[in-house]
Formats: sequence, structure tokens, C-alpha cells
Amino acid sequence: MGFFLTIEGVEGAGKTTAKAVVLRWLQECGHEFIATREPGGTPLAEQLRALVLGEHEEQVSDTTELLLMFAARSQNLSERIEPSLAAGKVVVCDRFTDATYAYQSGGRGIDEQRIAVLEQLVQGDRRPDMTLLLDVAPEVGLARARGRATAEGGELDRIEQEAIEFFHRVRSVYLQRAARFADQYVVIDASQSVANVEQQIVGALQARLG
Ligand code: TMP
Repeated sequence: MGFFLTIEGVEGAGKTTAKAVVLRWLQECGHEFIATREPGGTPLAEQLRALVLGEHEEQVSDTTELLLMFAARSQNLSERIEPSLAAGKVVVCDRFTDATYAYQSGGRGIDEQRIAVLEQLVQGDRRPDMTLLLDVAPEVGLARARGRATAEGGELDRIEQEAIEFFHRVRSVYLQRAARFADQYVVIDASQSVANVEQQIVGALQARLG
């Protein structure tokens, strides 16, 4: 029942463009779908997002960050993801638990077994059916993310301000997981032209949902 598709990658890898391509393809093919994101996706989960990505006068501990990610996820799962999958819809989620492994384990250094415990508690056996990983060198992605923040007059969030080494660790966990869960992951070289990236995304969708 339903199909759970997630989109992952370091900042500036092109997730937003990829999501637009996916949603357009689903629309054209007449699939019923919903789009959501993490952290976020419901009013409460969006408030948790603002809290976890925002600046605070105190240090945000790694465990607090981890639990806020899963708190938001629990809410998005019960309010939006599970009901939509049960109704037979395609759920397109901009980031999910693979991001927790990449950022909180790879980036922050939390033992992945701790994340696995929370994953089971919050999700049971729910895992993505397919994950599109937009893979790009963190230098390239962060330059795009910084350019976008400047153009929008905004600022980088708390996580986007991490040092480049953090994002190298994030990328490397994503790539390790892509190799380990090869049935779930489709890795897309996001340094290619937008047309090529789009073609690969559509190819992957056709293979699984066409
Ligand atoms: P976004 O703007 O790409 O959605 O960014 C959300 C930020 O939150 C991004 O820096 C990655 C981070 N994040 C985690 O650290 N862990 C998670 O589990 C999720 C879903 C996101």
C-alpha cells in the first residue's frame, strides 16, 4: 500500500529541484501523492523545526538535537505519512531518517546504534521504499546554499553554519548507506546539468512506479 519516497543530500545538492521534478512526474502520471519535509510537515513539527534549526543562547546538545528530529518525525508520521500511505498514496518526503544517520551520526558523531533504537521506537518497521540521494561535493553544495541565503536576504541556519569537515562526514555516511541499502537508494550525481539530473530522476521513477 502506498509508496514512500525520500529525497536526501547535503545542503545545496538540488533537493528542491529534484522534488519539483518528482511532483510534476507524479502529477502527469495521475498518481495520488502528498509532499512533506523533515524536520517539519505538520504545524507542530514545523515549530520543532524552527526550534532545532534556530539559534539559541545556550548550547544545543547533540542528544537534544537528535530527539527533536525524532519528535518532529513522530508527528509527521502519525499525522501525514502513515495515513497517506494507508490511503495508497505516494508520499514524497524531503529528508527522513537517513538524514539523521548522516547528520547526527556522521556529522555529530552519535553512535548509530542509538539512532537505530529511536528509529525502531518511532517508526516500527516503516522505511522508505526509495531514496533519491543527490550527491555533490559539499564545497559545491554549500556555495550554492550560501549564495541562496544571501540572495534571499536570509542567514544560514544553525546546522548550515558547521565547518566543511562536518559535511564531508555527512556525505560519506550517505554514500555508505547507499552502498549498504542498494535496493532503497538511487544515487544521482548532482554536479551534472539540470537536464541530466532530471532525466535520471524520471528514469528511476519510471523503473519503480511507471
Ligand atoms: P533542509 O533545509 O535541507 O530541509 O534542512 C534541514 C536541516 O536539518 C539540514 O541541515 C539537515 C538537518 N537534518 C538533520 O540534521 N537531521 C535530520 O534528521 C533531518 C531530517 C534534517
